[in-house]
Amino acid sequence: MRENGRAVGFIAAWDWPEGYLEIGSAWVDARHRGIGHGNRLVVEIVGLVRALVGDRAFAVTTNPRFVAAALHAGMRLHPDWHGPIPWAVTCGKCDFFAESDKPGCPKRNASCRLLL
Ligand SMILES: CC(C)(COP(=O)(O)OP(=O)(O)OC[C@H]1O[C@@H](n2cnc3c(N)ncnc32)[C@H](O)[C@@H]1OP(=O)(O)O)[C@@H](O)C(=O)NCCC(=O)NCCS
Repeated sequence: MRENGRAVGFIAAWDWPEGYLEIGSAWVDARHRGIGHGNRLVVEIVGLVRALVGDRAFAVTTNPRFVAAALHAGMRLHPDWHGPIPWAVTCGKCDFFAESDKPGCPKRNASCRLLL
């Protein structure tokens, strides 16, 4: 996303095995936040990834603004981190907890959200 030739926003979709696409890495320049750019970025990428992979699109975030933008774009909070998106792609990739501690992670569905 550009304004007057300057980048003010960015978002990406990262591919995972078996055709899953993760929406993430959203960023809006701090001087331009809170005026709807995040919403516009997420709406646009949700449309693109759903056209490409349907219900294999997902996002994982700890940012409440991103959660709000994703809900605004039609994504929904999904409490089950095992399916339909496999654990290996949701919690399996998290670097904050050792593999053995992941099943009891206190962040999951609290500060850390899965959206489909
Ligand atoms: C997350 C980010 C991209 C959002 O961009 P933005 O331009 O500020 O977002 P918007 O102005 O479009 O607002 C998005 C939603 O957040 C809501 N919001 C604003 N401040 C909020 C807050 N403090 N808590 C919760 N929601 C908030 C807005 O009301 C809006 O929701 P709505 O349309 O339902 O009303 C931006 O804040 C950012 O770059 N953050 C740092 C990088 C980051 O953490 N990215 C997330 C990676 S997953």
